[in-house]
Amino acid sequence: MYYSVIYQSKAQDNFSPKDIELMLIKAKRKNKKHKITGCIVYSGNKFIQMIQGPKQEITDLYKDIKADNRHFSVITLLEKASKEKIWSDWSMAMLNFSGGSKQVMSSRILLESYFETANKAEKKSEVFEVLRSNVLDLINESN
Ligand SMILES: Cc1cc2nc3c(=O)[nH]c(=O)nc-3n(C[C@H](O)[C@H](O)[C@H](O)COP(=O)(O)O)c2cc1C
Repeated sequence: MYYSVIYQSKAQDNFSPKDIELMLIKAKRKNKKHKITGCIVYSGNKFIQMIQGPKQEITDLYKDIKADNRHFSVITLLEKASKEKIWSDWSMAMLNFSGGSKQVMSSRILLESYFETANKAEKKSEVFEVLRSNVLDLINESN
């Protein structure tokens, strides 16, 4: 069993895309060490992130993330144990929908292909469905 959390939040005004990338370099290294995987979508100054891994590690990380003042209004969209780990190779994939129209278009294509690469069992899981519907709502509302 893995433990999964999906949440949404709002980036502070001064948390620039460059700073987000730098934060993620560190986060990926830490996630790898703790066997945590997931993805993060950034669109219209909002984040949706999914983290999956061992329960204790996820609980600890989520506590840190909630207390991180680079973002605010953290809302939990899903928190539960799950059998499937979706995209289990990614220490933290990032999709940025907050650049110009070219950036948005290429992120959209990538997002579609990410959803495609999930296997049948993963696609049927609640984690996948909650992630997919919330991410689609987010990018449609801000673009
Ligand atoms: C939107 C957002 C997403 C984050 N995602 C991760 C993550 O996936 N992994 C991680 O280790 N830290 C992540 N962080 C950073 C954590 O909040 C925290 O700063 C970090 O885990 C502390 O690591 P340290 O104790 O090694 O300095 C994220 C922060 C924000 C604002």
